[in-house]
Amino acid sequence: MQQTQERTSAVVSLEEQFQQKIDSEIRIEPKDWMPEAYRKTLIRQIGQHAHSEVVGMLPEGNWITRAPSLKRKAILLAKIQDEAGHGLYLYSAAETLGVSRDEMIEELHSGKAKYSSIFNYPTLTWADIGAIGWLVDGAAILNQIPLCRCSYGPYARAMVRICKEESFHQRQGFDILYTLAQGSPEQRAMAQDAINRWYWPAVMMFGPSDADSVHSAQSMRWKIKRFSNDELRQRFIDMIAEQVKVLGLTLPDPDLKWNPERGHYDHGPINWEEFWNVVNGNGPCNRERLRARREAWEKGAWVREAALAYAEKKARRAAQKEETQAA
Ligand code: 3HC
Repeated sequence: MQQTQERTSAVVSLEEQFQQKIDSEIRIEPKDWMPEAYRKTLIRQIGQHAHSEVVGMLPEGNWITRAPSLKRKAILLAKIQDEAGHGLYLYSAAETLGVSRDEMIEELHSGKAKYSSIFNYPTLTWADIGAIGWLVDGAAILNQIPLCRCSYGPYARAMVRICKEESFHQRQGFDILYTLAQGSPEQRAMAQDAINRWYWPAVMMFGPSDADSVHSAQSMRWKIKRFSNDELRQRFIDMIAEQVKVLGLTLPDPDLKWNPERGHYDHGPINWEEFWNVVNGNGPCNRERLRARREAWEKGAWVREAALAYAEKKARRAAQKEETQAA
């Protein structure tokens, strides 16, 4: 009995010391002691973040061969390549917590791990590429900048690099929509149609309302999250409501109205049924996205095997060289 009590109090003091580090803004590094629940929620969030980056390449990849000019094609290719890199930084950050890349990929393919709901919508016209850049990357920037101050070191550092690239992503999206909005009536209508289809799914990217967020309170105590889902969502709506005026287009929310008392835009109701439907696998493109990822993983097996074989051969050569030099 005595021993159990001693062990419990030892863990309690470890958790107290851990929380004191968090409260004092001391970064947690891979080799530091951390509560198992902290490690697990980071693996969950960073893994899902990485999956979102990689799955997010699919809707935009749909328009590489149909970009309206060589310049737009080159910009889109660069953006999609950036997203792949973001996924790799984030998988690497998650691996520092003791999970393997293969485990995370398996959880994505089996449907056990989530990725951002937004990527389950189809890209129907070129204007969608602009709407994704402006709205989706715009939302991602608002959600990701606070993550640069996340308490877990590898995640925070990965986010610094990612956020620098996201700004270019949002700018090029806005530029596509601005060009279309200044174009023919058909081009203007195409841009408006894309905003109408992508605005609310982008608002939902920030997650469920604070009242329904199961992880937020604990993630904020651990300074993984610096702001709640609703706080960041409101910032997004306030930002986009102003930027859309520059485009000379509108947002699909008749209830959107500046509220001077709140100092924010009031907005219409969010369709949470649609959100959970998409999160639970029943969005327009969920099956297609997972099928594409499974296929890419299978078709890419030879690349992984070749890279592994090369790495093993290189390691063997280095070991042999060392032995010869030591002899
Ligand atoms: N899509 C899918 N699932 C979502 C979601 C969304 N938009 N929002 C919330 N969820 C899930 C959560 O994952 C959680 O499910 P789980 O327990 O199975 O993981 C559940 O809904 C409850 O949500 P919570 O608010 O309690 O969960 P979190 O505290 O994790 O908050 C989050 C959700 C705000 C997305 C947070 O995880 C986060 O900030 N993640 C890091 C950023 C990220 O992943 N962004 C996704 C977009 S990446 C991107 O856009 C790339 C850009 O380059 C285009």
